[in-house]
Amino acid sequence: MKRDRVTLGGKLSAVLVAAGSAVGLGNIWRFPYIAGENGGGAFLLIYIFCIMLLGFPVLLAEFSIGRHTRKNAVGAYRSLSKRWTFLGYNAVLSPFVILGSYFVVAGWTLEYLVVSLTGGITNYVSSAANEQLFNDFAISPVRPIIYTLIFIVITHIIIVMGVRKGIERSAKFLMPLLLVVLAVLAVRSVTLPGGTEGIKFFFKPDFSKVTAATFLNAMGQSFFSLSIGLGCMITYASYFKRDTNLTATTSNVIILDTFVAILASTVIFPAVFSAGIAPEAGASLVFITLPSIFNTMQLPWLWSSAFFLLLGVAALTSTISLHEVITAYVSEEWHMSRKKAARIITGLLIVLASAASLSVGIGRDYTLFGMTLFDLLDSLTADILLPIGGLCTAIFTGWFMDRRILREQITNGQSRHLFVYRTVAILLKYVCPVLLTVIFLYNLGFFSLLTNIFVSLQH
Ligand code: PFF
Repeated sequence: MKRDRVTLGGKLSAVLVAAGSAVGLGNIWRFPYIAGENGGGAFLLIYIFCIMLLGFPVLLAEFSIGRHTRKNAVGAYRSLSKRWTFLGYNAVLSPFVILGSYFVVAGWTLEYLVVSLTGGITNYVSSAANEQLFNDFAISPVRPIIYTLIFIVITHIIIVMGVRKGIERSAKFLMPLLLVVLAVLAVRSVTLPGGTEGIKFFFKPDFSKVTAATFLNAMGQSFFSLSIGLGCMITYASYFKRDTNLTATTSNVIILDTFVAILASTVIFPAVFSAGIAPEAGASLVFITLPSIFNTMQLPWLWSSAFFLLLGVAALTSTISLHEVITAYVSEEWHMSRKKAARIITGLLIVLASAASLSVGIGRDYTLFGMTLFDLLDSLTADILLPIGGLCTAIFTGWFMDRRILREQITNGQSRHLFVYRTVAILLKYVCPVLLTVIFLYNLGFFSLLTNIFVSLQH
């Protein structure tokens, strides 16, 4: 007997669960530092451009695939086309690679939360002291792994609790909490002396910092931030109700996700400028610069705890969604109970994340392609796996998938949203493949190679 697939309950659930996946370290940790390195406001503009032309159609296409097939990512692609099953495997492999480094950073947020709650953070007033704190912590072989393990276990428990009781319930509680904490922090940060400089930096575009890499970064960031180009949104949409409005859900998820990234930047940049720190500090922006800034405020432990709680919560709703992609695949395709599937995956993730954690500290001399395992996992996903996943999804849904599926899912079998369907079909068919390919080739140095050949032929 075929059992009915679980579906999410309330009206808001689809948006909250999908936004829970989308809003994560990518918005609060990754977005501000990448924007900082790429000219602030100019990056924001290019990012919004990527979200509208690439993010919107691909997210809507993935929702459509998920709800139409009501299967895990591999099963979904296989049932649509045997030839494209490989895309399903890419969609399950990517979460695994992402979680390798994501769990490490998530573990750091726990350590910082504990140090903040116990008041220890007040001992680290100067930036140098904070750098010391971060390095001592990240380099120590045991502590970061313990926190990473705790994070993995929390994720595991929620996954085992199931789609309704675990995933849906946690998103309903954690997402509002996140928005409240973020709003309070933004108000505090903007009103710091000199904070408006940070706002200017973020909202006034400086195009002199824009290079070809800025476009790849913006594209990679938009895919990472929206959790697209892999199996996450397909898996989640397989639990959506038949009458969920996919167009509205897509718009709401995108608006929430972008709003959180912008709000997080209005927490971080004013604080950074107020303390006279360069906004290009990179990946350490959140962990090294922010604590010293909290120490210039009253009740530093409180602000610091609020911030790292926020970061931890955002990370948790995302690790849950990444774990779910693999769990759904293993339990459905290998005919295993959810519990057993989750256990196997968690075991493998513990090994990978521990190795990634060590590669930041004592193992940092072991490199592959000049990168530590941690950096390699991060750049492999954001720069390669997700954009390739997105490119193939666009080509598949734009050119090969039965058109009626997309139309049926976007319009819910009615005549509304026909305009959205037509626009998305064109974007998927022409705009996304062309843009994604051009940006890729550009970054691989293809065009400069062509120019060189052309120049040498002329001589
Ligand atoms: N979107 C998450 C973030 O911005 O942190 C990361 C992520 C979650 C990427 C789930 C991909 C995914 F499937």
